Amino acid sequence: MTQIITTVAELRAALAQLKPTRTGLVPTMGALHDGHVSLVQDAKKHCDHVVVSIFVNPTQFAPHEDFDAYPRTLDADLKKLADSAAIVFAPTAREIYPDGFATTITVGGPSAGLETDFRPHFFAGVATVVAKLLLAALPDVAMFGEKDYQQLLVVRRLVRDLALPVTIIGVPTLREADGLAMSSRNAYLSAEERRIAANLNVILKETIAKARNSDLRAAEAGAIEALWKAGFSHVDYVAIRDAESLDHITTLERPARILAAVKVGSTRLIDNMAI
Ligand code: PAF
Repeated sequence: MTQIITTVAELRAALAQLKPTRTGLVPTMGALHDGHVSLVQDAKKHCDHVVVSIFVNPTQFAPHEDFDAYPRTLDADLKKLADSAAIVFAPTAREIYPDGFATTITVGGPSAGLETDFRPHFFAGVATVVAKLLLAALPDVAMFGEKDYQQLLVVRRLVRDLALPVTIIGVPTLREADGLAMSSRNAYLSAEERRIAANLNVILKETIAKARNSDLRAAEAGAIEALWKAGFSHVDYVAIRDAESLDHITTLERPARILAAVKVGSTRLIDNMAI
């Protein structure tokens, strides 16, 4: 039976009952899909009990973004977790950000550029809430999807810099049959937009093949052109970067990553792949 808990005090009390077993945390914003379920399944390989947090974090959305529209499907989420999560932590905004809350965690390093160029508020919101969730649950391991690759690197840096006693595990992206990366925001897509969205992963794969034999900037420019042609309404970036630091690179001598953010209609999608 999954326990549903809404306060940090109750979470700590419930976790104290489970000691000395190992716990894993899967932080989510709900609207769970198979990608989230795979994070929970992976967590079970590393610990005895899994805590899934469900919290649509207001501080990682800018005022013009989709905080209000973000899908909230708690009942369906709880059904999906019934066999796998020991605890679902679903706090209110007031529980996470009590009156007078005045602390923000800013992570440098891998947060520079890419998402930050288009969502400057985003990583401070993520780092602050992730730190709060990690400190509330004090898990042995915490799982983050590679789909949000820059976020994964930012969380790793946060944990390393603050010496938080948790191991961060990155989990490969789960994809639909046509390769579209699973995302809660895919629910926004009309049938036509969904068809266009499927081109993103194909164009990234083609760009990786081109990058192996050409100048990296030319490969990125070719990807942007292909995305426009495929019907995307906006391309925020396509970038080939060092896989560990996200630094700019000009050759593929070290492990690299291609990362992209696009819009189809008004829905923003991100994806990335190892090179
Ligand atoms: O990736 C997400 O769903 C969110 O950014 C996270 C890590 C749960 C923080 O709100």
